[in-house]
Amino acid sequence: MTRLVTDTAALAGALTAQDDVPAGGHPHRRAVVMTMGALHAGHLALVRRARELADHVVVTIFVNPLQFGPTEDLARYPRDLEGDLALLSGDGLLGEGDVVFAPTPAVMYPSGDPVVRVTAGRIGEVLEGAFRPGHLDGVLTVVLKLMHLTRPGVALFGQKDAQQLAAVRRMVRDLDVPLEVVGVPIVRDSDGLALSSRNAYLTADERRRALSLSGSLAAARAAADEGVAPDGVLAEAVAALTGPDGVDAVDYAALVDPSSFEAVEHGATGEALLVLAARVGGTRLIDNGEVMLR
Ligand code: PAF
Repeated sequence: MTRLVTDTAALAGALTAQDDVPAGGHPHRRAVVMTMGALHAGHLALVRRARELADHVVVTIFVNPLQFGPTEDLARYPRDLEGDLALLSGDGLLGEGDVVFAPTPAVMYPSGDPVVRVTAGRIGEVLEGAFRPGHLDGVLTVVLKLMHLTRPGVALFGQKDAQQLAAVRRMVRDLDVPLEVVGVPIVRDSDGLALSSRNAYLTADERRRALSLSGSLAAARAAADEGVAPDGVLAEAVAALTGPDGVDAVDYAALVDPSSFEAVEHGATGEALLVLAARVGGTRLIDNGEVMLR
């Protein structure tokens, strides 16, 4: 049975129990999947991959206040621990010895908001960072804490939050955090909409218009395949995003280097990442995908 723990002492006990289980002659490996709950098939794909890569899995569920701005949706962010646990126990995803760690803010931040934090540097200032100041610092601070608390050999993150993934990779490299970071591809509904806990906010009309994000990726790829230069590729992407059935506002649409998140140069060729953030009604959505510039 999967074990639910809500405080750090119980977590430490559960990890010791995992470490005590013989790993069949090879070094024991633990994977962590960090989430904010409201789990969907995208999260389950992370857990499934974690299962393949490790002997034991820890899933963390924590809506981290540090990564929400003052006007963001912290209070209304969907929370459903019972539903999350049911999903995690289904399909043999989590099993004997696996752990779900679902702390409260008081458990994670017993002395109140942390005084010392991780800063994401330049990667935390552009794009997501420019629209959500401090967001990636809040993410990295909790991610590093959860890495220390769960002591994994591998940590898995979704490629949907591509800038978050790049910042985590950079933190792990810059601060010598002893683990492997694995990115897991975006899971999409059959019509192309990238799965997100925030999709729950969309009305039927907004959901239909939200498809312009994946439509924008397709338009950019088609233009790149025809040899259109980066500026033209981006123009096609924006046109698809803002057309008659498009989004209400674009926060950003950019072609960037996948690891630094700096904009690609005029005339650049090779692999770039198209990153999008847009508002549909009151909901902010992000999406991204690789584009091969020729
Ligand atoms: O991607 C998320 O759900 C969150 O940013 C994370 C990594 C769990 C940190 O709170």
